[in-house]
Amino acid sequence: MVLFEMLAAHNYGELHFGRDEASGLACIIAIHDTRLGPALGGCRMRRYDREEDALFDVVRLARGMTYKGAMAGLKVGGGKSVILAPPAVADRAKLFHAFGRFVDSLGGRYTTAEDSGTSINDMVLIREKTKHVTGLPTAMGGSGDPSPFTALGVRRGMEAAVEVILGRPSLRGLTVAVQGVGHVGMNLAREVRDAGARLAVADIDPIRAEIARKELGAEVVPLDRVLEMECDVLAPCALGAVFTHDNIKKLKCKVIAGAANNQLYDPSVGRALFELGIAYAPDYVINAGGLINVVSERDGYDAARCRTKTLAIHDTVATLFERSKRDHLSPEVVADRMADEILAAAG
Ligand code: NAI
Repeated sequence: MVLFEMLAAHNYGELHFGRDEASGLACIIAIHDTRLGPALGGCRMRRYDREEDALFDVVRLARGMTYKGAMAGLKVGGGKSVILAPPAVADRAKLFHAFGRFVDSLGGRYTTAEDSGTSINDMVLIREKTKHVTGLPTAMGGSGDPSPFTALGVRRGMEAAVEVILGRPSLRGLTVAVQGVGHVGMNLAREVRDAGARLAVADIDPIRAEIARKELGAEVVPLDRVLEMECDVLAPCALGAVFTHDNIKKLKCKVIAGAANNQLYDPSVGRALFELGIAYAPDYVINAGGLINVVSERDGYDAARCRTKTLAIHDTVATLFERSKRDHLSPEVVADRMADEILAAAG
């Protein structure tokens, strides 16, 4: 009963549970909404303390994919999968083959992709059992690494935010602080440096921070200072749940625009940021470049078309900040409403 209550609360959809004795596979595929098209979303593999945690994770993530696809103007539904990682994976090929067969059994209503805990090599293994997989290597006709597209979309969203909120025509002369210079963060750091911004970075991995200093001339700031430093734009590109009611009081940025998923600890933090006068570019809108890239694989990958669609994130972010100002609503609430309008029109 609790299960169906949870599905109702998230306006679901379907859940599929898969188990394979021989490979040790235990997985859940969540299909949240298919009004815009068949569902697509990454496969996350991690240890979960409790099965309920895996369920909660996949349900929440798949819903996020519905909204992300809608706001990116894609003909894609929201889905996601989790593999409950066994204590030790004896045979990775066997595990992902079993997962691939399970995805295949859904007949294309769900297409999988890479996520945390899975890699491009795992997608190649899945491809041996189903065609409903994206994020394949370019040599296989796939879209390869999505991070440069994600970074491009974040940079364009950031530019829209500074135009509407700060009245600045570009990032030139502004200070941008990037938390986490990994795949997306490093690409983003390069983008904003090239756009003429002053760059500050922090990374838990000192080697990554040093690369940004040497190659991009970034100032390296301590991990505990990056959120509190004086800057125009703060770009979280590391972890989720980075903003809480406690730490937002110490922020000295004017705009938040970064790639990390689920940046707000809970939705009420969005309202609190709005009341503090800090413009938060909703993560799922601004980081959709990677999704745009993998979705394109379904119709034959075309990098130029993906780039055009990714650049359009600028206009979406500009529109939602305009509406946020006009209606005195926080931007993530406006984004949810805009996505709901798109979904209702499709459905
Ligand atoms: P990544 O693992 O390559 O990079 C994360 C970086 O953050 C690493 O350099 C890591 O050392 C650093 N880091 C971790 N904890 C930190 C901390 N406490 N303080 C500072 N730095 C810390 O991951 P990737 O692919 O760059 O993704 C970054 C974020 O963007 C994630 O939240 C991911 O879910 C999200 N995202 C990524 C997309 C993609 O295309 N890769 C697409 C959409 C969202």
